[in-house]
Amino acid sequence: MSDEVFKQFKEHSVAEFFKKNRQMLGFSGKVRSLTMIVHELVTNSLDACEETGILPEVFVQVEELGTDHYQLTIKDNGPGIPKSHLGKALGQMLAGTKFHRYVQQRGQQGIGAAACTMFSYITTGQSTKAISACSGKKFTANIAIDFVKNKAVVEEIEEVPTDENGLTVISEFKDVKYERSNYGVYEYLRRTALANPNCSITLIEPNKQRVTFPRSVEQNPPRPVEIKPHPLGIGTHDLLEFAKRSKESKKISPFLTETFARMSAGKVEELKNMLPTVDFNKNPSDMSWEDAEAIVKAFGQVKWIAPATDSLVPIGKTQVEASFRNIFNPEVLVITERSPKVYRGGIPFMVEVGIAYGGGVAAAEKRGEVMRFANRVPLLFDSGGCAITETIKTIDWKRYDIKNFDEEPIAVLVNLISVHVPYTSAGKQAISNEEDVMDEIKFAIMEASRSIQKYLSGKRRANEIANKKKVVTRYIQQLSSDLSILSGEKKDDIQKRLTKIIEDKYGGEEELAQGEGKGNEEETVPTEKEEDEENGE
Ligand SMILES: Nc1ncnc2c1ncn2[C@@H]1O[C@H](COP(=O)(O)OP(=O)(O)OP(=O)(O)O)[C@@H](O)[C@H]1O
Ligand SMILES: [Mg+2]
Repeated sequence: MSDEVFKQFKEHSVAEFFKKNRQMLGFSGKVRSLTMIVHELVTNSLDACEETGILPEVFVQVEELGTDHYQLTIKDNGPGIPKSHLGKALGQMLAGTKFHRYVQQRGQQGIGAAACTMFSYITTGQSTKAISACSGKKFTANIAIDFVKNKAVVEEIEEVPTDENGLTVISEFKDVKYERSNYGVYEYLRRTALANPNCSITLIEPNKQRVTFPRSVEQNPPRPVEIKPHPLGIGTHDLLEFAKRSKESKKISPFLTETFARMSAGKVEELKNMLPTVDFNKNPSDMSWEDAEAIVKAFGQVKWIAPATDSLVPIGKTQVEASFRNIFNPEVLVITERSPKVYRGGIPFMVEVGIAYGGGVAAAEKRGEVMRFANRVPLLFDSGGCAITETIKTIDWKRYDIKNFDEEPIAVLVNLISVHVPYTSAGKQAISNEEDVMDEIKFAIMEASRSIQKYLSGKRRANEIANKKKVVTRYIQQLSSDLSILSGEKKDDIQKRLTKIIEDKYGGEEELAQGEGKGNEEETVPTEKEEDEENGE
């Protein structure tokens, strides 16, 4: 019987897997699928430009060829891709320059571009045209995927000299739809522009309308520093992999100092003393599972310096503020600037939060709006399971004078920055519920909310005082004339004195209340104790 069953036993490639499970790459629904394609190709353009110090200029054109049938052109002014790597970059899954590195980038898997080539091919039977201008040559090719082998099929078209740089990708898609909805390409690019003020984006919509999102900053953000993995962020198998791949070091000791961050010779000595049974003079390629397990266990017992934080580059307070004012012009706006933290023991990350309330948020009829970003990339989908959305749900908004988050004119922007964003799936639209990450998102939101609360309670008090003043003032006339009869003093004098008493009492309080209301000018940073208390600890 089992022999019969095992006649069905077959091997599959990752390309075949994703062809069958394209929803795992985010390709589900017509509008969403088109946005996902634009997302993959635009993030690649921005990564490539920033990595090579070029101010990004991205051109996106969507042309309608028939019902649910479009041609998409995406062109950038980046470095292009060398001819030798073009096929692999666009036609092979799990291939690229980012997966193996610890550097803050938008892409991290080596799947996105090939996934677009795949989606085009399986919905239209057409290959993807790539024009790569790189190092003085412009190379044009049609690229498809051999799904069984997960290999690119490249048909060369021409190679001519050029003095330009950049990559253009032209492909056709069916089962997709262009729409100016909250989940469409337009909204995606608008949010991309918001979080990437250094980039200029042009969109030509199917109705030929040209939309430009001009850059508002004339230089790229500082380049995030590439770091080595931190000892606390890896497991036994990771260590073994590193050891097997190590070429330079002939012994475990130098291998450790060369491979990991914060691994000084002193720390290696400490590890040696803790592990007398492990031979640190062994060639790393001879490291056994037991050695690796013991070393990783010892990593957990040593006191390490936290990973370097210049590996993280946020959008920045000034820019988040400018972008928010630009889209909403809210009544009050608070942006947090918090220090980097670490999750899973060794992966650095940072959370920046902006909260806008009232004014233009109300005018735009936005209620409880959440704008999620990861490494400056807008996350439009899968909000349900995302750490950002989940954390926002756990906040006790009433504490901050927000009675019902979903009904108030409030917009919250959260950007998670990391050398490795823990996405829930290959579609990269939601952040997994890592405890350290969720805690930090919570603290950052609470910090911003406290200033919003100060503003709102100040405003409420000012209203209450103004009302009281109005009520009391109403009685002055009558009271002055009654007192004048009783005391024989002039009514006008009494009225003046009573008015002064009221001014002295309520005028001062009013000013005080308004002063409290200036939430966006005052920073309140919670202490660790406050954070713990609010976290119910
Ligand atoms: N516009 C571009 N300019 C230059 N190089 C590019 C461009 N697009 C893709 N590449 C190269 O092709 C590789 C593969 O891209 P792909 O989108 O498949 O993966 P990734 O960006 O590394 O990770 P992810 O799957 O998370 O997007 C990239 O790592 C990069 O080296
Ligand atoms: Mg990519």
